[in-house]
Amino acid sequence: MQLVIFFLMILTHTYADYPALKAVLSEKGLRDVSQMMAVWIQNKLKSTEFPEVRGGVDIGIGTVNYVISNMQVVQCSMSGQSMEFEQGTGVSVEVSQLSLAITGSWATQFGIIHDGGSFDLAVYNININTLLGLGDEAGRLSITTISCSDDIGGVHIQFHGGASFFFEPFVSTFQGKISEMIHVRICPAIQQAISKLEMNLQKMPVSIPVNQYIYLSILFTSSPAVTDRSIELDIKGEFYSKSFPSEPPFSASAFDIKYAENYMLSLAASEFFVNSAAYAYLSSEVLQINITDNMIPKSFPFHLNTSQFGVFIPQLRTLYPNMEMQVLLYASKTPLFSFSSGVIDFQLPAAAKFSVVKPDGTLVPLFRLDVDSSFSGSALIDNKHLTGVFKMKNLTLTVGSSEIGDFKTAMLEQMLVIAVNRFVLPKLNDYLKTGFLLPTLHNFSLINSKLLIKNGFVVIFTDVEDSWAVSTKT
Ligand SMILES: *[C@@H]1O[C@H](CO)[C@@H](O)[C@H](O)[C@H]1NC(C)=O
Ligand SMILES: *[C@@H]1O[C@H](CO)[C@@H](O)[C@H](O)[C@H]1NC(C)=O
Ligand SMILES: *[C@@H]1O[C@H](CO)[C@@H](O)[C@H](O)[C@H]1NC(C)=O
Ligand SMILES: *[C@@H]1O[C@H](CO)[C@@H](O)[C@H](O)[C@H]1NC(C)=O
Repeated sequence: MQLVIFFLMILTHTYADYPALKAVLSEKGLRDVSQMMAVWIQNKLKSTEFPEVRGGVDIGIGTVNYVISNMQVVQCSMSGQSMEFEQGTGVSVEVSQLSLAITGSWATQFGIIHDGGSFDLAVYNININTLLGLGDEAGRLSITTISCSDDIGGVHIQFHGGASFFFEPFVSTFQGKISEMIHVRICPAIQQAISKLEMNLQKMPVSIPVNQYIYLSILFTSSPAVTDRSIELDIKGEFYSKSFPSEPPFSASAFDIKYAENYMLSLAASEFFVNSAAYAYLSSEVLQINITDNMIPKSFPFHLNTSQFGVFIPQLRTLYPNMEMQVLLYASKTPLFSFSSGVIDFQLPAAAKFSVVKPDGTLVPLFRLDVDSSFSGSALIDNKHLTGVFKMKNLTLTVGSSEIGDFKTAMLEQMLVIAVNRFVLPKLNDYLKTGFLLPTLHNFSLINSKLLIKNGFVVIFTDVEDSWAVSTKT
């Protein structure tokens, strides 16, 4: 028994092991991230609050006590920053030649003599090197500071007001002290910012609600794979029914994407991703609908009543003359998508339970038709919209069960093929022609996107733009 449980655990574990979603950040993408980081660092520095500095300088005849306060970064420039992938670890971040202009107030006290004024401080050629490790922590992305070092090229300080000449002899002492004060704070500040980021990452949800019926698991299936040119994130990407969550009778399989170096991001989703959504909808009992005659437009040439169906099923006319009918149409199994080079195939196993509606409203079951249809199509990204087109490959209609005896389905099948081709598909394709707008996340939108359908998965190569930054620039 234990052996059985053991094997079952291995089995279920390997199911969950393959990701259905992958995201690869290229060097081009990392360059963009490093530019965003530069802006972030500069904004952060400008809003940094410096503590007051108090001290004393022995001038032989006593000690001059001083206070430096109200320090504020008024200008900040950076001549270089870079981020690089560190194979197997994460990313290294290098900031070079960062310079700051700081203003502040000074005050001294020597015995009963008080004095004060302002000062300008320039700190130049600050270099910072940080190595950040990327991993996964219980299915969430995790980031840690592995190492950090910094040095300061120089400090220049100028005092204004009061008897600032009095201060001049101590300038060299101050410069050393201030330089040291800034130096000892840089790496701890970075570590603190990274810890805060890590805390927020660990609070991120591992599943996101999609709508009232299903949610998506976004657990990491492994640590980010860092090579010297890219980072790949592997995410479970499985949908579950909210009301009846369960594993589908099919499993995810491994797939490899060749990311595109000339795009910032490569995003891929496997068949399992979409099929698990279909299964989750099926489990939520959403893929079923009652069709009554009053849902069919009056102008439509075909109606749900026994007089009309009697043309195909003669016994209906004698058993239930001139009566209305109702259909429960539902997916009998999971509708399945499959991807192969350039083509999306879609199989829809459906069934339709027909009943006759008695004048008192009660239903009398008549028969069940099994309708297996398959479609093929393609998809592409056109001007930020995901668009597509589908056509019917095959449709077969058989009698699944019948309470009114046997009947032939050839004519009904022909009718249905015509109806799907003339009415359903044109409507669907009209809708898919406009397509869906690609999603925007935190003001980041996808631009220059290209979609390819590969064997077992689809991949989108794309650049990312901060639409907010763009809109504020213009
Ligand atoms: C369809 O109608 C039947 C009979 O009225 C009802 O039992 C069933 O719940 C309905 N199903 C849906 C999906 O509306
Ligand atoms: C059945 O549908 C046909 C076609 O729309 C209509 O002419 C006829 O009156 C309907 N019969 C009943 C009983 O509703
Ligand atoms: C449609 O499917 C049926 C049953 O699977 C098969 O016999 C038939 O050849 C198919 N038709 C086409 C056009 O593929
Ligand atoms: C997105 O941009 C709007 C302004 O267009 C801004 O107010 C908002 O804070 C931005 N949201 C995020 C998540 O950055």
